[in-house]
Amino acid sequence: MPEDHIPSLFQPLRIGNTEIRNRIVMAPLTRQRSHLSGVPTDLNVEYYRQRAGAGLIVSEGVNPSAVGYGYLFSPGLHTPEQVAGWKRVTDAVHERGGKIFAQIMHVGRLSDPLILPGGADPIAPSAVQPDPASREYTVTCPRPRRDYPTPRALEREEIFGVVEDYVHATRCAVEAGFDGVEVHAASGYLPMQFLSTNTNLRTDDFGGSVEGRAKFLLLCVDAMSDVAGPGYVAVKVSPGWSFHNVYDDDPVATYSYVVRELSARRIAYLQLGDYGMDWDVYGTLRPLFDGPVMFVAGFTRSRAAETVASGKADMIAFGQAYIANPDLAERYREGHDLNCPVIETYYTQGAKGYTDYPVFADADPGRLQPVDALPTPMDPEVIT
Ligand SMILES: Cc1cc2nc3c(=O)[nH]c(=O)nc-3n(C[C@H](O)[C@H](O)[C@H](O)COP(=O)(O)O)c2cc1C
Repeated sequence: MPEDHIPSLFQPLRIGNTEIRNRIVMAPLTRQRSHLSGVPTDLNVEYYRQRAGAGLIVSEGVNPSAVGYGYLFSPGLHTPEQVAGWKRVTDAVHERGGKIFAQIMHVGRLSDPLILPGGADPIAPSAVQPDPASREYTVTCPRPRRDYPTPRALEREEIFGVVEDYVHATRCAVEAGFDGVEVHAASGYLPMQFLSTNTNLRTDDFGGSVEGRAKFLLLCVDAMSDVAGPGYVAVKVSPGWSFHNVYDDDPVATYSYVVRELSARRIAYLQLGDYGMDWDVYGTLRPLFDGPVMFVAGFTRSRAAETVASGKADMIAFGQAYIANPDLAERYREGHDLNCPVIETYYTQGAKGYTDYPVFADADPGRLQPVDALPTPMDPEVIT
């Protein structure tokens, strides 16, 4: 009986330096509603405050440096103003008893000179242009609507400077009151560009073998752990996913190595995404990590509860369900039906589709979907 498993989602858990009060995680969600300077706004404070019933919030991707920026109105975590803005967010979440990690997202080659300082070229392990067709996934994102340019390959010495940017962002996260940081090594962003065989053509020690391709990510994790402790650092991977045009000749070999190495480092947790792979991502990789593991993508309440109750995962992250339901954890606990997400407002501006989804008590019962359903986007015809 799935209902019997629901209480397993409401057990506390120690992750790194902190304890979370339930296993329900708000997944990292880029929403592009910060100030153009990357400083979180009042609206961002309210959005995260509303969702602080999650055991853990993983923030939207935040860039660790100006050159890591890829989405207009996405926030950063490297200037004093950005730190001050995030401090207001972390205070609001902590006031409600929640915990929050900052997801450090460097987009690498997925940027554009139009939005980089001085019109600079985006950086990457190798000068490999993303296939223009990979833009099809991001049609709703407000950023330059043209093909990604060919990035500039980093010189070997420059790579250590990029690692320093991750370290600086980690220091900023501590100052801003975050409970930890999560390195975004998934979805085709910079660390995954190093990991993937089609985007990393380097012939030095940062390319080639699995060990070479993983070196950038592991250097970042080690350097970040040096300044804040390994319990402050988490990592997200999406093994084998070709989102943003990255490919791996042998994802099982690559990620078996990466996950074992991360396990040895005693990091806070590993976020493992199975984005529709035809091999058993969780069954293959979970046993290799000795520590808390978070699964993500396509979970319902009942599947999450079964997965946690059976010990396969320690936490489950919910993306679109959290966009639409500020009180998702509370609804899952009470068995209350869910609001439907509105895709059209995922990446728009302002409060609409961001902070105006009602809590259960204020929701129109005619517009809800069953508590154990996958989030079903609302029919645009009925959006008011
Ligand atoms: C609007 C939107 C923005 C997202 N932004 C990020 C992001 O910044 N970082 C990240 O790791 N994943 C991001 N994701 C992926 C989600 O974290 C999550 O893995 C995905 O939505 C699948 O989970 P779900 O089936 O529960 O929605 C985003 C997804 C959506 C829908």
